[in-house]
Amino acid sequence: MFVSDCLSVNEKGHLTIGGYDTVSLAQEFSTPLFVMDEEKIRKTCRMYQNSLNTYYQGRGMVLYASKAFSCKEMCRIIAEEGLGLDVVSGGELYTALQAGFPTERIHFHGNNKTEEELIFALEHDVGHFVVDNLTELETLDRLAAGQNKTANISLRIKPGIEAHTHEAVMTGQIDSKFGFALETGEAMEAVNFATRFRHVNLKGMHNHIGSQIFDIEPFQNAAKIMLEFMHQIRQEIGIVIEELNLGGGFGIKYVESDTPVPYGDYMKEISQVVYDTCEKLKFPVPYILMEPGRSIVGEAGITLYRVGGIKEIPNIRTYVSVDGGMTDNPRYALYQSPYSVVVANKASQPAAKKVTIAGKCCESGDLIQEHTMIQEVEVGDTLAVLSTGAYHYSMASHYNRICKPAVVMIRDSEPRVIIKRETYADLIRNDL
Ligand code: LLP
Repeated sequence: MFVSDCLSVNEKGHLTIGGYDTVSLAQEFSTPLFVMDEEKIRKTCRMYQNSLNTYYQGRGMVLYASKAFSCKEMCRIIAEEGLGLDVVSGGELYTALQAGFPTERIHFHGNNKTEEELIFALEHDVGHFVVDNLTELETLDRLAAGQNKTANISLRIKPGIEAHTHEAVMTGQIDSKFGFALETGEAMEAVNFATRFRHVNLKGMHNHIGSQIFDIEPFQNAAKIMLEFMHQIRQEIGIVIEELNLGGGFGIKYVESDTPVPYGDYMKEISQVVYDTCEKLKFPVPYILMEPGRSIVGEAGITLYRVGGIKEIPNIRTYVSVDGGMTDNPRYALYQSPYSVVVANKASQPAAKKVTIAGKCCESGDLIQEHTMIQEVEVGDTLAVLSTGAYHYSMASHYNRICKPAVVMIRDSEPRVIIKRETYADLIRNDL
């Protein structure tokens, strides 16, 4: 009935998440509130792991892309589930370290890692660096030498694939700020260059074609192109690259019309392409890494708001204003992302009213959804926006000096706060 299987309706007609009444959650923890279902997150981690075991004999590792949602508790959950972690900044790395995440399972990404970040990562023996450009390669070698270490690296490659998704989250094409292009010969030059350094160990190739992708085909094509490149490296330079990171990007359900492919099927189809291509090229089957972010946490989270003003503009539209907005969800403003919205205290009623959900920021573009169908709505109702577990808290801002909401995790039908709600004092903490 809802876009995520962790949501349901109880006997009071209230929306539940992980079996817990969302209206009670809004009362207990106040709004706006992010709520996440831990069981759903863990189940998805296991499903990825199992599909890697089933279809690829376990010769690989699933890394959780922590940019989707990063906090200490999330890192602990991922560590417990045995996954690795993709971090893209000193801050995400620091969070993981503070949570005690095993550093050998951390992969450090980013197209402009600063020297400070690289030194910090080297000092903590981060397991793997995904190198984006030649400057980074030279810097990393110099800094690793300074610490008398050798950094395991892979090179981020642009395979020249245009996945069908929003252009702001498309990354595999030649006009992308990320990585080395194949078509121009830049990627092969980078491999050549990398082999000259003594303090980096070239272990793998990486690509990530984009995010919120529903087709398997672009992933299959990317895998094939990457293997052909690895084969070419062996022929031209004489080294065998052992690891292939296929990135993340698997789509989730925001609205009914979204049709994500079951994640297990991705692995099945991709494994087949990897096996077939390796056989054709007589190339040793590589260790595979994949980096899902959105698909691990996205459908496991919702946002709860309280309805404030309702403004009916005759023959135009009805604005329903909530106590959050683009500060906790900038995705409609940025990508026109579709969402399912439910009046949580009337979840069993038909969604018969067309409304526009507006935030409380001082700008007209602060909308969460336009012309969407919800239940008959009144001031004081609790509104739930679904599938907000990924790229919401992590993209939240302090615009208009609005405090970031709390995040509550539900486990065994019990809620616990995993990120406290910010206070006004937090807002001025660094003001002098
Ligand atoms: N690996 C790399 C190198 C990435 O750049 C990303 C996402 C991922 C993995 C994880 O992709 P996922 O499985 O989550 O699709 N803010 C945007 C999404 C940006 C994605 C950035 N990179 C949004 O809200 O839709």
